[in-house]
Amino acid sequence: MRDGAAPSRVATWGWWTRATRSFARRPRRFASRSCRRPVTAARLVARCVRGIEELLADEVGRLGTVGAVGHREVRFTARPGPAVLSLATADDVFVIASEVGGIGRARADLQRLRRAVAAADLDRVLRVRDRCGGPPGARTLDVSASVLGRRAFNRYDLEDAAGEVLARRLGLPYRSRRAGGRPPVGGLSWRVTVVDDRATLALRVPARPLHRRPYKQASVPGTLHPPLAAAMLRLAGVGAGQLLLDPCCGAGTLPIEAAGRGADAIGCDAAPAAVAAAVSNGRGTGVAWAVADAGALPLRDGSVDRIAVNPPWARQVAPRGRLAAAPDALWREARRVLAPGGRIVALLPDPRPPAGLEVQRVLPVSLFGAHPVVVVLTPR
Ligand SMILES: C[S@@+](CC[C@H](N)C(=O)[O-])C[C@H]1O[C@@H](n2cnc3c(N)ncnc32)[C@H](O)[C@@H]1O
Repeated sequence: MRDGAAPSRVATWGWWTRATRSFARRPRRFASRSCRRPVTAARLVARCVRGIEELLADEVGRLGTVGAVGHREVRFTARPGPAVLSLATADDVFVIASEVGGIGRARADLQRLRRAVAAADLDRVLRVRDRCGGPPGARTLDVSASVLGRRAFNRYDLEDAAGEVLARRLGLPYRSRRAGGRPPVGGLSWRVTVVDDRATLALRVPARPLHRRPYKQASVPGTLHPPLAAAMLRLAGVGAGQLLLDPCCGAGTLPIEAAGRGADAIGCDAAPAAVAAAVSNGRGTGVAWAVADAGALPLRDGSVDRIAVNPPWARQVAPRGRLAAAPDALWREARRVLAPGGRIVALLPDPRPPAGLEVQRVLPVSLFGAHPVVVVLTPR
């Protein structure tokens, strides 16, 4: 379709808007006739932390065909189904509704976005979301936008341009983020991204971003972003039948994610409050937890297959116990308990190899304004 040209179905604006509106509000059994048409393949975009795009693309590959790997995102085509909600390395996943070019620097270019939103096949997008396990019964909508480069408009202008057209078409209230405040939970969450001169409009599949894991109710300072933990476990090659150790487990993110991959897991931490948080988060996962100093682990030599850890860096979390006096004790103990052929994956401030270990791979990542590295280490 040419940019700005309305497809023929939008010419029948009246009935089409009503059909879409009724779908948005009603449970699936009341969906209009057109809503029952099968959707065989859908275009989706999964978003992630900067630096792990290739790992996400790898994970996406088991669901469908990867189209493009870009800055913090992987675009792909897949058969719609709940499997898209199991992308562990993704922060979030969206159904692509529309893409439009010609979004330059001028404010007038917002009109192109409005036309693209007016022409998007929202009925199909809602059906795809439904098939993927998106929750029914949305009563509101919100839009969040991001734009790269200097423009005569800002993210709020983009959000309002898309939001006002979506509100009209879907018959749902839209509240601008311009005045601050959080969007209501449970609405349709739309996203507009503008890169170079291209805008993409997409609808989030789950009610909450995928990185908000339901298990993570208790937290500790410096706790790991779950999709990054999942990426570290992919790099570690953790799988069923293996035993993973996190010797500084905090709220338990790495062991819990490892259990989700079918592995056996142990989490230790010197802080009793951290272990209490991990026990509470990990209920039902079968992970073994212990209050223990990573500088003197209560484990036999060569007893674990993989170690994954983000140690206390002193910036956010102070090392305690033996690590306070001798940080290298962590690596000495890691080498001791690791089985032959084992691997350590660590999140570190820089890629310098700890004593006695060799760096196999370095992955720079960006996380909440910090730029640590994920390193894959093996004993020398
Ligand atoms: C950056 S946090 C780890 C966060 C964890 N990965 C999570 O997802 O919540 C570092 C952890 O190291 C722990 N720690 C500090 N000194 C330690 C030591 N000597 N032995 C074991 N754990 C220690 C802290 O209590 C803290 O929970």
